[in-house]
Amino acid sequence: MSFTAFALEEWQSHYEHSVAYNLADSGCHPVALGELLGDDPEAVRRMLAIDLHYPPVGGTDPLRSLIAAWHGADPGNVLVTVGAAEANAITVASLVSAGDHVVVMEPGYRQVRGLALNAGAEVDAFPLDPDNGWRPDLAALESVVGPDTKLIAITNPNNPVGTILTPEELDAVVAAAERVGAWVLADEVYRGTELWTEEITPSLWSQYDKLICVGSLSKAFGLPGLRLGWLVAPAEQVESTWRRHEYATIATSTLSMHLAELALDSQDRLLTRNRALIRAGYSRLEQWVAESNGLLSVIRPDATALAFVRYHLPLTTAVVADLLRTEGSVLVGAGEHFGIESHLRITHGLEPAYLDAALNNITKVLRNYQA
Ligand SMILES: Cc1ncc(COP(=O)(O)O)c(C=O)c1O
Repeated sequence: MSFTAFALEEWQSHYEHSVAYNLADSGCHPVALGELLGDDPEAVRRMLAIDLHYPPVGGTDPLRSLIAAWHGADPGNVLVTVGAAEANAITVASLVSAGDHVVVMEPGYRQVRGLALNAGAEVDAFPLDPDNGWRPDLAALESVVGPDTKLIAITNPNNPVGTILTPEELDAVVAAAERVGAWVLADEVYRGTELWTEEITPSLWSQYDKLICVGSLSKAFGLPGLRLGWLVAPAEQVESTWRRHEYATIATSTLSMHLAELALDSQDRLLTRNRALIRAGYSRLEQWVAESNGLLSVIRPDATALAFVRYHLPLTTAVVADLLRTEGSVLVGAGEHFGIESHLRITHGLEPAYLDAALNNITKVLRNYQA
């Protein structure tokens, strides 16, 4: 069986440390350790006193309780993982076998798609429609879900286009799954990154019995380096993924679990900090697009630190992303990494001077090829 590589992550691992401007990461400017500790000597003392033993494999009790509260679940429904990446991987490993059918949202973060293909499943996508403000095409969803569908995977808010699904759209996803007895995987790593409202996107948890919600500290909390994520699932599904977790990683680190407790305890402070970066970054990016004289266009996202910017040039996204890297020293996500051409995924939740310099470089390179 052929192997499908994770093209976006491969692109990032090769190049993210060799460019002057990295706009390919999907979170905002990360929180420094001192900032997380609140520059509090007592918090520093507690951290330095930690014994670096193996932590509880499924996560410490306080951490599982904090995560449960974030989703309105019970601590017994929570498994702490090495990032949302592991949560997605062990979920697919536990549910999807060769010959199964899996439905994903596109454009999308193509982890579940690739994992399912590598498990020998057939994968179909239902689109978020650019001609309808990146709303999901629910008729297409209905038509791709069939009796063999084992799993429907959504990302809400979405990466890369930032759509937050409405309650009616979520009901349609659940109804499609219920019709055929499929599981729903709701990747909710971008909850808390809303641009235009203070309301945190509701978790899908409790809306369906065959549901796994995935979350992480990498996006709204600004802590990707902790490599701390989780899944929330019915008890039997937690057990089933936990058995895979023991094989894959045993546990995330003791230190990360300690710092994650602190982060979830200080969530208001962290979400406020990161939303401020995202809102300021998006407004700079929108201004930059407006000044491009028709070279670029963008549909306003509802959330995330990302903009999925359309360029109006007859070049593939692979070519454009490579030109930006080699001639502008800027790394962005290419549309082909998300299943659609003519778009670049640009992270904007960054320091203003850094973002402006990078956007400026992008314009210079694109203008060269406009003629
Ligand atoms: C939708 C989505 N899910 C999962 C992940 C992986 O997140 P983590 O850093 O928590 O492993 C990402 C990272 O970009 C993502 O965009």
